[in-house]
Amino acid sequence: MAKKIVVLGTGGTVAGRAASRADNIGYVAGQVAVADLLAGVAPPAGVEVECEQVAQIDSKDMDSQTWRRLALRCAHWLAEPEVTGIVVTHGTDTMEETAFFLQSLLAPAKPVVLTGAMRPATSLAADGPANIADALRVAAAPGARGVVVVFAGGVHGARDVLKQHPYRIDPFVSADAGCVGYVEEGVVRQVRAWPEGGLDVADAALRAMERATPWPRVEIVLNHAGADGRIVSALVGDGVQGIVAAGTGNGTLSAGLEAALLGAQASGVRVVRASRCEQGRVISHGRGPFPDSGGLTAVKARIELILKLLAAAA
Ligand code: SIN
Repeated sequence: MAKKIVVLGTGGTVAGRAASRADNIGYVAGQVAVADLLAGVAPPAGVEVECEQVAQIDSKDMDSQTWRRLALRCAHWLAEPEVTGIVVTHGTDTMEETAFFLQSLLAPAKPVVLTGAMRPATSLAADGPANIADALRVAAAPGARGVVVVFAGGVHGARDVLKQHPYRIDPFVSADAGCVGYVEEGVVRQVRAWPEGGLDVADAALRAMERATPWPRVEIVLNHAGADGRIVSALVGDGVQGIVAAGTGNGTLSAGLEAALLGAQASGVRVVRASRCEQGRVISHGRGPFPDSGGLTAVKARIELILKLLAAAA
């Protein structure tokens, strides 16, 4: 059976268009069809590539409906025996969130590879074609599995990947963990294990998604100098169901913010404590009033909490 890779387009800078080829920042993301992005990219030998436009957005606008649609299309294609892997073209701004969402929900035994670009498709210096070519190589690589971000030659695991620069063409890091591997001249060099495992309640969350259960509202609240917690009262008054507190340092919270979050928790809101630091993790002494995020950044802890609340509603 010939290998098939399905490429799902969602938009982003990789599909961005500017008025001039010299313009790398004044472009509109999500303009070029995924079929056209693939036109200039040679597939790996012996691999058939099929594509589908799932969305066409700037990923700063990623929302629950688009995530739901993407997850269900991934689940569909992953279940097809002839499909060996999926590539998702995506904006870089929320790529790490979508990667973590898909790994948590689907824990795929086949590779699901997210990629994009930091320069629009119309740029003289477009980086999209090389990233897409590398992503196809990873999706076709024997033994590859799980959700990864392939960008500028790096292969990053969904749990660890983090966008840390707004302009460089190599904006992703895997923080403490390091890359899963590298793509060098089209050859995948693996240096640590592919991502495995998902959320323990993933099946229930997927069922809720199939039934289009409304998504719970989960917000992120930042601790910072002067944070007094009044924002928490506003959110509780507005019906929030979960709050991720991005604390300072080891997940610490100002006295005012902690008191407000205790009040929220007492009224039934789920509260999780993360750190606003980019690297490392909250090291818990086990005595605090709020569970910690288990090493997840605030944006990923928010996704985990959404999926847990969705599963509970299934
Ligand atoms: C986006 O995230 O859709 C725009 C920015 C980018 O892709 O780099």
